Amino acid sequence: MPPPAPQHPYPPPGGPRQHSRLLRFIALAALASIILAVLAIIIIWASVQPRKLKYSMEHASISGYNLTNDVLNANFHFVLRANNPNKRVSLYYDRIDVSVLYEDQILSVGNLAPFYQPRRNVTHLDIHLAAKNQKIYGAVARDLRVDRASGDADLDVKIRAKIRLKIGVFKIHRKLKVLCESLRAPFSSSRGFQRVPCDVDVD
Ligand SMILES: *[C@@H]1O[C@H](CO)[C@@H](O)[C@H](O)[C@H]1NC(C)=O
Ligand SMILES: *[C@@H]1O[C@H](CO)[C@@H](O)[C@H](O)[C@H]1NC(C)=O
Repeated sequence: MPPPAPQHPYPPPGGPRQHSRLLRFIALAALASIILAVLAIIIIWASVQPRKLKYSMEHASISGYNLTNDVLNANFHFVLRANNPNKRVSLYYDRIDVSVLYEDQILSVGNLAPFYQPRRNVTHLDIHLAAKNQKIYGAVARDLRVDRASGDADLDVKIRAKIRLKIGVFKIHRKLKVLCESLRAPFSSSRGFQRVPCDVDVD
């Protein structure tokens, strides 16, 4: 009779080997669920296919202009067209900061009331800003006087907004930058204004 095969001594249940197996299983399960979540987000994003938000300046004008001793007082009126062409994405504008510049010098800053823009929606935003005793430096003041005599001034409008994109139940925070450059803003409302498309950056 051959002697009985030596029995392998199994570690007692709950011993160190089983413990590390359990840890490995938990780690693999966690990794798998992270990969699944990332895949789900990519699939949702791809199926939604957000289209670019579009902005253009439809109106710009300057009134109440007074430049005395290089100190400017003036009122600015703009109408910004905001177009959300998306079928499945709506937008919350939570904070909107606007500045008006002339030759890179800030003439006026202000902000707009927060609002919600539904899907496939075009909204026209009235923007009223004013330069109040704004100091204008040297050559810039001279150029502004020349523009005043010609009837309109080349203004830039910069908009920075905190937005949330709403896709189904998801809300994604983003920063929106809109730059409307070289707006030929007339000093008299009887002169026309040529609409200008704006540059958009979302990140
Ligand atoms: C322009 O501003 C100056 C200085 O503030 C003031 O003396 C003058 O009356 C103003 N002109 C007009 C047309 O409002
Ligand atoms: C866009 O949304 C605003 C705010 O909800 C609404 O007042 C306006 O009528 C909508 N415009 C269009 C063209 O759907």
